[in-house]
Amino acid sequence: MTTALITGASRGIGAHAARRLAAQGVTVLAGCRDPHAADLPEDVRPIALDVTDDASVAAAVKEVESTVGTLDVLVNNAGIAGTQPEPADTTPDEVREVLETNVVGPVRVTRAFLPLLRAAGRPRLVMVSSQLGSLDLMDSGRWQNYPHLAYPSSKAALNMLSIMYAKTLPDVLVTVVNPGYTATEFNGFRGTQTLDEGTDALVAAVLDVDGPSGRSLSREGVTPW
Ligand SMILES: NC(=O)c1ccc[n+]([C@@H]2O[C@H](COP(=O)([O-])OP(=O)(O)OC[C@H]3O[C@@H](n4cnc5c(N)ncnc54)[C@H](OP(=O)(O)O)[C@@H]3O)[C@@H](O)[C@H]2O)c1
Repeated sequence: MTTALITGASRGIGAHAARRLAAQGVTVLAGCRDPHAADLPEDVRPIALDVTDDASVAAAVKEVESTVGTLDVLVNNAGIAGTQPEPADTTPDEVREVLETNVVGPVRVTRAFLPLLRAAGRPRLVMVSSQLGSLDLMDSGRWQNYPHLAYPSSKAALNMLSIMYAKTLPDVLVTVVNPGYTATEFNGFRGTQTLDEGTDALVAAVLDVDGPSGRSLSREGVTPW
């Protein structure tokens, strides 16, 4: 029986992936800032988890340890877009807020859960990134309609964290997933993909035990860094 914890699973991509994985027999723990406000089916266990808060993450580790014992897969999914002003108008605090959730958060959560992951047979780390974080695609002009500093920078940093984890944790299978533009609150439900489409890569990564480690994937396959 596979056990997976998904951060930011109160709604959107995290909640939908939790539903799909639970339906496939995975024991899913849904990390939520407010577990009571989350819209989750009965077979998904909500767990209080704010990725920006050391005490919250430490309490979540204890809860996972006492309820399911070990963890096979950690999905770092929680993310925010921030206020998205033009680059020249963006303040340090606006950048800091996005990095705190999208970059420092995954480091905090990964570090805290690594012992529980390592207690499992084949530990897996899934990082939910975005192709807006691709240096290659951004530099080539593919995302000219996204002139904002904080969010793409945070996902570029998350990609590099993932590469470094893959290189330095040979026992852990690390996979980056790029959902694609998906209709959630994140983009005012303007995303062109359904939640099923937006969670295909995530669900496949959670179920994959073969790897190789250190790949960046979308539902279409390997994506550029
Ligand atoms: N939707 C897209 O088109 C798209 C495309 C590419 C990548 N992504 C990525 O996919 C991931 C999920 O996005 P989404 O579209 O599902 O967004 P969403 O509907 O806005 O959901 C974001 C989730 O993150 C949670 N969250 C935010 N800050 C948190 C914190 N400090 N601690 C714990 N949870 C926190 C939210 O919880 P609350 O309910 O408590 O606010 C919510 O559950 C993000 O990493 C995003 O960057 C999305």
